[in-house]
Amino acid sequence: MFEQHIYVERRRRLQEKMSSGLILLMGNVESPMNFPDNTYRFRQDSHFLYFLGLDRPGLAGVIDLDEQQTAIYGDELSIEHIVWMGPQPTIADQARQVGVEQTAPFGSLAERLAEAREKGRTIHFLPPYRAENMIQLAQWLGIPAHETRQHASEELIKAAVSLVSVKAPEEIAEMEKAINITRAMHLAAMRAARPGIKEAQLAGIVEGIALAAGGQLSYSAILTVNGQTLHNHYHGNELKSGQLVLGDFGAETDTHYAGDITRTFPVDKTFTTKQKEIYELVLDTEMACIGACRPGLRYLDIHLMAARKITDGLKALGLMKGDTEEAVQQGAHALFFPHGLGHMLGMDVHDMEGLGEDYVGYGGEVQRSTQFGLKSLRLARTLQPGFVLTVEPGIYFIPELIGLWQQEGRLKDFINYKKVNQYLGFSGVRIEDNVLVTEDGHRVLGKPIPKTVEEVEGVRAGG
Ligand code: GLY
Ligand code: MN
Ligand code: MN
Repeated sequence: MFEQHIYVERRRRLQEKMSSGLILLMGNVESPMNFPDNTYRFRQDSHFLYFLGLDRPGLAGVIDLDEQQTAIYGDELSIEHIVWMGPQPTIADQARQVGVEQTAPFGSLAERLAEAREKGRTIHFLPPYRAENMIQLAQWLGIPAHETRQHASEELIKAAVSLVSVKAPEEIAEMEKAINITRAMHLAAMRAARPGIKEAQLAGIVEGIALAAGGQLSYSAILTVNGQTLHNHYHGNELKSGQLVLGDFGAETDTHYAGDITRTFPVDKTFTTKQKEIYELVLDTEMACIGACRPGLRYLDIHLMAARKITDGLKALGLMKGDTEEAVQQGAHALFFPHGLGHMLGMDVHDMEGLGEDYVGYGGEVQRSTQFGLKSLRLARTLQPGFVLTVEPGIYFIPELIGLWQQEGRLKDFINYKKVNQYLGFSGVRIEDNVLVTEDGHRVLGKPIPKTVEEVEGVRAGG
């Protein structure tokens, strides 16, 4: 938890941006995994944490914009709970730590909301993403549970996005902690990998480091010899000589700030020439894109720069051909680079994504493309100091996609399918770092994590 004044100031700024009515901030409840008492690890809602800081289940907060009052609703533990779960500070004591004086039992919130509705006051809430909160909102507000996201307050979404997008120094310090734990996880995976070991063994090492640091993974680890499958969470393969390992994983600190780093390395101690050529092209692209990050530039333009660099590089390797601008405009590079260059990072690994990707990454400023590849760009808008984002280009050889495009003869003026077929089974390479946009440029967060061919091979050789 941060100091009290940080939460007070965040709520003051939120109130300043809003008009009238009530803001209802819903915390999360325990969520059952396979029977009611066997729950998933509790994860508080990130926006509840941002404005109210309390990291325990069963809470909701109300900010009355007209009365300028904040209250936290939740039930104190009974002796029965204490017997099973141990003693905990009271909600009133915890609320005081974040500058909230008023607390009340959870059940009384229904009455408060009913009264507000009777008076025709607006109840602003953020889009719910958990079934439990959708059902709860439906009960309080008399709307069908499956329509609760549509009834979320656009005014509140926009206010939250504008505040949460710009990270304060204390948040950046937490993110650097997350990234440094993530660094240890990547180094451990790189050191442990060898022919014959299972992906699951590496995944266990990696997750153990995140847990031992007092937090957890910030998302399910991607740690695979099939890096061409973008969000691959299968860990059942055995590593074999000649393969690449793609590791995309990160730690979440005990304060819930996330790291999101990707490294790709050979199962053998060195890259093959073919692997090195693709790897260095991804690396050059990543470094150039990081170098371009500064306030005032649209991330869309940095993404397009990545697409052009990848196209130029693939042309040099004989995999693509034709005019680079035209190829990128028509989306030919997306056969190899079918995702966006990056996204915002904060407490959520895809920060604020539950509020709606377009509010977060486009902001009414850029129209989202519908083209394959470009449509997956999560962040397109103009960069501002304080944004923390990922830069994560990649090149993949996806046999199913290549087969389909080739069969259709799709964009064949730009793609040398004959040569591309020599790369089936190559898998994929992605390199991802976390970058802070500063007043005059950018800063890569955390201690450097090996990424040049020399550095990666150095670690693989036992360095
Ligand atoms: N970890 C998923 C991503 O990088 O977006
Ligand atoms: Mn990632
Ligand atoms: Mn990412």
